[in-house]
Amino acid sequence: MVFFSQNAANISLLFVLLRKTMDRIMTRLSVNINKIATLRNARGADVPNVVKVALDCENFGADGITVHPRPDERHIRRSDVYDLRPLLRTEFNIEGYPSPDFIDLVLKVKPHQVTLVPDSPAQLTSNAGWDTKKNLEFLTEVLDGFNHAGIRTSVFVSADAEMIEYAAKAGADRVELYTEPYATAYSQNKEAAVAPFVEAAKVARSLGLGLNAGHDLSLVNLNYLYQNIPWMDEVSIGHSLISDALYLGLERTIQEYKNCLR
Ligand code: PXP
Repeated sequence: MVFFSQNAANISLLFVLLRKTMDRIMTRLSVNINKIATLRNARGADVPNVVKVALDCENFGADGITVHPRPDERHIRRSDVYDLRPLLRTEFNIEGYPSPDFIDLVLKVKPHQVTLVPDSPAQLTSNAGWDTKKNLEFLTEVLDGFNHAGIRTSVFVSADAEMIEYAAKAGADRVELYTEPYATAYSQNKEAAVAPFVEAAKVARSLGLGLNAGHDLSLVNLNYLYQNIPWMDEVSIGHSLISDALYLGLERTIQEYKNCLR
């Protein structure tokens, strides 16, 4: 009996160690499901069901789910965030502008990660990183609250060494690189497109920051980014992934994005 329980303890320790090692070497795919909520909201009922799609994404291989609740609830609603929290089995990432309402929601829901983005309520989608130098005091205060609550923090920034340094000063655990400029420049000259992101990623690593990336990543440009920055912790992808799923189906699409991270 003692022999068996000792063995069980050893096996579970092995799993924990394996998981920690994988966490260190893997770039995780977090699927942003805002577009699913946009589709649902178009008809006012519950089709497609946001929670079911999130759970299916997990079953199909996603390593995390990202949502971006906005004040006008035009896609993800506050209620979706509460519904998702107890059911998700992978990493839950909530991104958004840290308004008092947003901070309150995140502190109540306690996701694994919160990503701070500087967008105004009316904005179509995030289109810039934070000016972390100008907003140092504000970000320090907000990050401090999340750090105390045990929620990992990430700050959305451009591939700019100074912005990354100030994100570290503010107390962020990670930065998320805003990859739209990489995605736009990729078709012209992929080496030139990725170069500033590799430099920025090195700055983040030298400061001990974790590294996420997101915006306009796709099956076309993701693998090249990964090859050049294999130490990324996570990529967060919505628009292209959900669009690809219209043709390929959600399961195959998620597998194909995962294949880009190998
Ligand atoms: N990261 C952040 C901070 C975002 O605001 C978004 C868009 O919601 C994404 C990643 C995902 O971008 P995309 O939908 O272009 O994949």
